[in-house]
Amino acid sequence: MPDDLSRPPHAEGGAALDLGVPTAARVYDVMLDGKDNYAIDRQVAEASLAVMPELKQIALHNRAMLHRVVRHLAAEQGITQFLDLGSGLPTARNTHEVAQEAAPGAKVVYVDIDPLVLVHGHAILADNPDTAVVTADIRRPREVLDHPDVRAHIDFDAPVCVMLVGILHHLLDEEDPNGIVATLRDAVAPGSYFFITNFTRLGDAPESVELEKVLLSQLGTGRVRTPEELEAFFDGLELLPPGIVPLPLWRPDGIVRDSGSIAARFMTGGVAVKR
Ligand SMILES: C[S@@+](CC[C@H](N)C(=O)[O-])C[C@H]1O[C@@H](n2cnc3c(N)ncnc32)[C@H](O)[C@@H]1O
Repeated sequence: MPDDLSRPPHAEGGAALDLGVPTAARVYDVMLDGKDNYAIDRQVAEASLAVMPELKQIALHNRAMLHRVVRHLAAEQGITQFLDLGSGLPTARNTHEVAQEAAPGAKVVYVDIDPLVLVHGHAILADNPDTAVVTADIRRPREVLDHPDVRAHIDFDAPVCVMLVGILHHLLDEEDPNGIVATLRDAVAPGSYFFITNFTRLGDAPESVELEKVLLSQLGTGRVRTPEELEAFFDGLELLPPGIVPLPLWRPDGIVRDSGSIAARFMTGGVAVKR
């Protein structure tokens, strides 16, 4: 995408793409070697990689766990509805591809605050009636739950998988991420799943603290949380084995070779069910 667009495109709802401000979706796109980012996003990515060069590998681990979890829930737990909150830009093998491969006709709704996600989503999902893209802010979870496009695809009287993958660390403590998860938890039917991953503070790696400083100062978000803080997101839910673990260790497809590395451990995540 060129950096010199004179007039940024506008997405539905009037939200403008501001090329002068970095966004989490586009910085993450840099990490995944995507093309949908601007110079300002690459600056934040470079500053972050200078502190933690493993971030690219971490992004890949995050996507790989997403694939394993969605496949497991769609193929083995009978889940046919996925609400992917903070879904990011549509990159190779997204939630709908994995879910609909395992369970044809599965409904997937992508929700992201970044209007660029909607622009791209419309382009690639135009002929997929089971998938929708919504621009919304999960800091107002009731608005997400009541959004007409969400309601058109998701039946909240039936089990749904709520995905909060790599997004809660973009919420500050004062934005009450625990309250947001609780609102979502109370809104979904028993038998629903929560899939959460988050940056996790490593006591033996000072760079996890340094990275938080870079992200907070340059991106305005990026709260690295303790294992206890991450555990609290799952309050009132029953964790599936193996619990909250470094991403590559959640039901790996093969042998995990780098499980002790920062790349493996800096993000942890888990999947839990609402009984
Ligand atoms: C690191 S990306 C994660 C993408 C994807 N979930 C994954 O794990 O591959 C975080 C995403 O959360 C989105 N996001 C951040 N704050 C948000 C908010 N308040 N409401 C909705 N989306 C938000 C960002 O725009 C970004 O696309």
